[in-house]
Amino acid sequence: MDQKLKVGILGATGMVGQRFISLLEDHPWFEVVTVAASPRSAGKTYEEAVGDRWKMTTPMPEAVKNLVVLNVNEVEKVAATVDFMFSAVDMTKEEIKAIEEAYAKTETPVVSNNSAHRWTPDVPMVVPEINADHFEVIKDQKKRLGTTRGFIAVKPNCSIQSYAPCLAAWKEFGPKEVVATTYQAISGAGKTFKDWPEMVENIIPFIGGEEEKSEQEPLRVLGKVENGEIVKAELPKITCQCIRVPVLNGHTAAVFVNFEKKPTKEQLIEKLVNFKGFPQEAGLPSAPKHFIRYMEEENRPQVQLDVDYENGMGVSIGRLREDSMFDFKFVGLSHNTIRGAAGGAVLCAEALTAKGYIAKK
Ligand SMILES: NC(=O)c1ccc[n+]([C@@H]2O[C@H](COP(=O)([O-])OP(=O)(O)OC[C@H]3O[C@@H](n4cnc5c(N)ncnc54)[C@H](OP(=O)(O)O)[C@@H]3O)[C@@H](O)[C@H]2O)c1
Repeated sequence: MDQKLKVGILGATGMVGQRFISLLEDHPWFEVVTVAASPRSAGKTYEEAVGDRWKMTTPMPEAVKNLVVLNVNEVEKVAATVDFMFSAVDMTKEEIKAIEEAYAKTETPVVSNNSAHRWTPDVPMVVPEINADHFEVIKDQKKRLGTTRGFIAVKPNCSIQSYAPCLAAWKEFGPKEVVATTYQAISGAGKTFKDWPEMVENIIPFIGGEEEKSEQEPLRVLGKVENGEIVKAELPKITCQCIRVPVLNGHTAAVFVNFEKKPTKEQLIEKLVNFKGFPQEAGLPSAPKHFIRYMEEENRPQVQLDVDYENGMGVSIGRLREDSMFDFKFVGLSHNTIRGAAGGAVLCAEALTAKGYIAKK
């Protein structure tokens, strides 16, 4: 790319916003020129606004420290500074829906980490290895919004990334019933142990709204485009329990699956390790070389050892074995704020750029 695309981050001061900032440091295609957050932060430098809330293990990049934080609500002013936006604001669902559409209507593409538009029929919800073809609904969305280059694209919830890629890789065997339990890290709630000490040595058996997302969102990702809308897949039926556990980063899933055509364990592993999609074919900068790895050791994947596989963009699977009630069971692990949040959105933006949906204004 001759000239980097100028990008802004809505919600730049939060946990996911900070992850965007650190992932985009030295990005070959994108340069962060604008940071926006609530009116509480607006007018301060990024360094002042974040203060002691910096939660990344790497230092705050020098290039953003002195950027003056803009107010997310001043849409025209913020949009004028960038070619496209990432969205990671924490507002009400209705407010997020409205503000992301307002940005799109300024002819600024929005790649969002938020759930607000995940079920808007003409908004693609994409894991680029699985359903980059869903971006084709953007042309219908633009017609609805009356835009020529502005649109919204989203990525799915962090909880599904530890098992939904397997369901996609195993499509030809017809996964029909899935029972999953997710063990979810506290960074998924925007927290560290410092700001959530109650989570030390604790388990909380409830994460608001998460079970519905974990059951339904894989079906939309596995769905197809029909008449300008995404139509969700009917199978597999998924039931899920989501548990908060004392882990900083990394969502683990323990999963049981029944298939229409029962495969062998070897066939399943072969499909996992060879699964790839548009990011690998196009050589996108953030694409993991191997999206899914299979670990033979019976005590893997482990959060401490495996969460950073492929810079947090890969998925680790292990303990695949036949089950006494279901066909198979396995354990999956993915990084919730990288693959599951900011990294997944950056990969979507790279795919959108490679496909020509995002370009210089
Ligand atoms: N953490 C994860 O792993 C994860 C994964 C997937 C999705 N998400 C979703 O991503 C979003 C951000 O999550 P987070 O964990 O990064 O939250 P967070 O740490 O609480 O950050 C929230 C961000 O939104 C801004 N904000 C809050 N209220 C606002 C308002 N009324 N107007 C404008 N900006 C406002 C904050 O700005 P100030 O600093 O100025 O308050 C901050 O930049 C949420 O919708 C969350 O559900 C999170």
